[in-house]
Amino acid sequence: MPETLTERVHIGVLVSGSGSNLQSIIDKIEAGTLDAVIRVVVSNNAGAYALERARKHGIPSVVLDHRDYPDRQAFDEAMIAVLREHSVELVVMAGFMRVLTSSFLQAFSMRVMNIHPALVPSFQGLHGQERAFRYGVKFTGCTVHFADEGVDSGPVIIQAVVPVFDDDTAEILAERILKEEHRIYPQAIQYYAEGNLEIAGRKVRLKRGAKVEYKALHNPPLTRF
Ligand code: GAR
Repeated sequence: MPETLTERVHIGVLVSGSGSNLQSIIDKIEAGTLDAVIRVVVSNNAGAYALERARKHGIPSVVLDHRDYPDRQAFDEAMIAVLREHSVELVVMAGFMRVLTSSFLQAFSMRVMNIHPALVPSFQGLHGQERAFRYGVKFTGCTVHFADEGVDSGPVIIQAVVPVFDDDTAEILAERILKEEHRIYPQAIQYYAEGNLEIAGRKVRLKRGAKVEYKALHNPPLTRF
């Protein structure tokens, strides 16, 4: 008898920094709400706090410093080897600040997820939260997508929208976005674990479609119309 109705997907998490998204995935797995197992955490930065988080939860981790490799290809091959050794099915980039080569993406075709702190295709690349703030948008948010060879440009799996308030600072807005990142990333992984994602070109849909509650949002509010 299987432990749960859904198989637990074997994931490898790639990190470079603080690892708060890694933490949220760990917490949901430990709470029994995310059907995944983190087989390995890979960091390109030996000083990443994410490594400490992995250690505290008894999760194996490996540091591969990209500066030790002659080129991106060699670095990515080393990552592929580590992920395969740990029988990783799904690669989860969580604040991993490197673009992957096409060989890596072929090795894990449509099995690499990434998260971006903006509603792509807006504000792709670094500091998405701050650039949205400075642009003056009234709504922004975050996106989980399948990674492709571009920067934050792959097929979108799930997005969350948050408002920008007049008295926000860039830091307050970034925190509001991060809170939602911590919800949509585990959800995207859970959809994958359930075998519920269907990819057709750029479109990712739920096989067992769910109704989205719909009510238009306005910021500032409509006072008359
Ligand atoms: C997150 O906000 C993530 O969306 C962003 O890096 C942060 C990592 O935080 N990623 C990108 O900007 C990718 N373009 P974390 O290490 O605390 O999870």
